[in-house]
Amino acid sequence: MATSSDQFGDVSARVLGHHAEIRARLRDLDVLGGPEPSQVAAVHLRVALLRLASLFEAHLVFEEVELAPWIRDVDAWGPCREAAMLAEHDEQRHRLQLVCAMAEAPDTDDLGFAHEVSSLLVSVLEDMAREERQLSLLGWLYDYGAEQMTG
Ligand SMILES: [Fe+2]
Repeated sequence: MATSSDQFGDVSARVLGHHAEIRARLRDLDVLGGPEPSQVAAVHLRVALLRLASLFEAHLVFEEVELAPWIRDVDAWGPCREAAMLAEHDEQRHRLQLVCAMAEAPDTDDLGFAHEVSSLLVSVLEDMAREERQLSLLGWLYDYGAEQMTG
């Protein structure tokens, strides 16, 4: 029978798999965004961003459905950790919606758009790095936390 440590490990591995996929898409955006994107590159950048938004939304929903219970139930601080994750998701959705609205608007300036994509990219990379540190802490708590507390 799978232990909670194993089950959390499965969810955590899926989150890390999503992050790897998102990082690959972000690298594509970075290449397309370049310092002065051509008109064709600017169109590709818009399409790539909208595709990323859809992948990212699916990832957020996965974390809210599959990861949230593990965050909530790990210890007494779980509900605070879950609330922090949900607040971060709201912020990420808001940031992404603003840049998607730019991607969809016909009069968006290509260079300004490329700058916005670039700063979105940096913030998403930072958020994922922070989440991965938290996943690693949760993994430790599921592996050893209860044992440590009960001796
Ligand atoms: Fe994530």
